[in-house]
Amino acid sequence: MNTKRTLIVGNWKMHLTVAQSSLLAHRLHTVIAAHRDIEVVLAPNFLALQPLSLEIDRRRFRLAAQNAYFKDEGAYTGEVSFSLLSELVHYVIIGHSERRIYFEESLEMIRDKVAACVRNGITPILCVGETSAERKVGETKQVLHDQVVSALSNLTSEEVAGMVIAYEPVWAISTFGGELAKPDHVKGDIDFIRHQVAELYGSDTAKKVRVLYGGSVDDHIVSGYLELPGCDGTLVGGASLNYQKFGGIVEAAYRLNRKPKK
Ligand code: 13P
Repeated sequence: MNTKRTLIVGNWKMHLTVAQSSLLAHRLHTVIAAHRDIEVVLAPNFLALQPLSLEIDRRRFRLAAQNAYFKDEGAYTGEVSFSLLSELVHYVIIGHSERRIYFEESLEMIRDKVAACVRNGITPILCVGETSAERKVGETKQVLHDQVVSALSNLTSEEVAGMVIAYEPVWAISTFGGELAKPDHVKGDIDFIRHQVAELYGSDTAKKVRVLYGGSVDDHIVSGYLELPGCDGTLVGGASLNYQKFGGIVEAAYRLNRKPKK
C-alpha cells in the first residue's frame, strides 16, 4: 500500500506582487479543501513568503522558497540563507533548471545548497532534468546520474529518504519549449532516478524518497503522470498561477487516490 501523501507543488516563479500572491492564495482556499492524503505546497517569491505564512491555513497549504544561499549567515549582500527561511517554510526548491541555466548554478553549489537545506531542518525539493540538446545526443541518463549523485553526496540515508526529487526535463517546461513528455518516458526516468538513489543508499531509502514530475503539467494531463507507479506528485509552474487549474490538479490527485494504482 502506498502510504505517502501525494505532493502537489506550485512554483509561482518570479510572478505576482505581494497583493496578487495573497489574492491567489485566497482563491486557492475557496477551491482546495484539506485532504489527508494530499500535501499542497505553494512557492511564491521571497517577498510574499512572510505575508502568506500569516494568511494561509496551515492544514491546507505549506510553503516553499524557490531558492536560498548555502552559507548560513555572513556578508553575502543580496542573498537569503536557509537558516533565515527555516521558521517560514517546509521546503526549498533547489537546482531548478532556471537556476542552473540562467544563474549558472554548478553541481557543487547545488550539493552545498542541499546540505545547507537539510542542516537547517528544511526539506529540499531537488530539481533534475536534461536539456533538449542533451536529450538529442542521448545523454539523459548521464545527466540525471551526475545531478543526482553529486547533489546527494553529503547526506545520510535518513536525510535522503526524507527529501524530494523533482524530475523536470528542461524541454518539457512551458517556458523552455513545453513539449509534452510522454508518461512512458517519464516513468523510465523516474525509475532511473530511484535506481541511482538505491545504488547509493539502498532500496529502502529509494522507496522512501519522493519523486515528482514537472513540465507543462495542467489539470487535463496531470493524471497521466500521477498514475505512474513511483510518481509521488507534481511540480507545477504556469498552471499554478491559475487557481482553477491548480485546484483542478489537486482534485485530480484526490480522485486518483481513490482508485487503485496501476
Ligand atoms: P511549467 O509547469 O510552466 O512547465 O513549469 C514547470 C516548472 O518549471 C516548475 O518548477
